[in-house]
Amino acid sequence: MQIKNTIVLLTALLAGSATARLHGHERRSHHEKREVAATATAESTATTTSSGFGGVTSPSGTGDTYCGNVGIPYGSNIIEITEDELDSYNWTVTLDGSFILQEYTAYFWNNCNEEGELAGFFDTTFPLTVTIGVGEKSYVAIDVDSQGAFVTSPTSVGVPRSTTDGIIMGFWGEFNIDTTINDGWSGFDVSALVALDNGKTDYPGLALTGDGQTSYITNSLGSAYNAYSETSEASTGGIGGNVVPGKLALTAYMAYNGQSI
Ligand SMILES: *[C@@H]1O[C@H](CO)[C@@H](O)[C@H](O)[C@H]1NC(C)=O
Repeated sequence: MQIKNTIVLLTALLAGSATARLHGHERRSHHEKREVAATATAESTATTTSSGFGGVTSPSGTGDTYCGNVGIPYGSNIIEITEDELDSYNWTVTLDGSFILQEYTAYFWNNCNEEGELAGFFDTTFPLTVTIGVGEKSYVAIDVDSQGAFVTSPTSVGVPRSTTDGIIMGFWGEFNIDTTINDGWSGFDVSALVALDNGKTDYPGLALTGDGQTSYITNSLGSAYNAYSETSEASTGGIGGNVVPGKLALTAYMAYNGQSI
């Protein structure tokens, strides 16, 4: 009985905290029912395509609890590629180290974890971890209908986390790629909401650009543009880039501090 109650409470907490922080990019109503934590439906047949991605999971959930594709095996929907391969993928992120002064690591997660819970932002093992050298670039491809985010941090610092509950802090680069529930639209934004929730904002800046659109937060939340940078924006959908169905090449500038990009 006690264990059951704990699980119910934990589920409620996860669902509650997640819905306050995740932002889908839907052109339609943003106000679907949000109480139920989404559950990913893993299919039994795993495949690996020539693209390097694994299989595709069926979408589940709606609104901010939408899971999308988490890959089969889990996490195989987000892969590192080379510069030469960039043009042959539909959805990519170039991690640009022009502004960093030491090696950085980018940690990518799916909104929904391997158990299908909306809790990927508590991950301790990640679908993808990529390092970026000073002045260098690293490249990531993301498969159809992937919903997730990443954070970048000096490699020597590691994953920024809340000491209270372990949630990943820093400034998140959120992505909704080729979203099935939204007719194939994509979206992206930079978000400081979790950092703000935890009262700590001295993190490296992050800028995300793509499709002629930009979302950024500068170092230590000095300034922001088209990003989730104030607690009052937590319930506002659609801030950031909103992109019609088709290819999208994003660039992420780490330690961004207002430079021309
Ligand atoms: C890119 O999208 C096209 C059109 O849907 C598809 O045929 C192709 O396989 C995709 N490429 C990769 C690498 O996933």
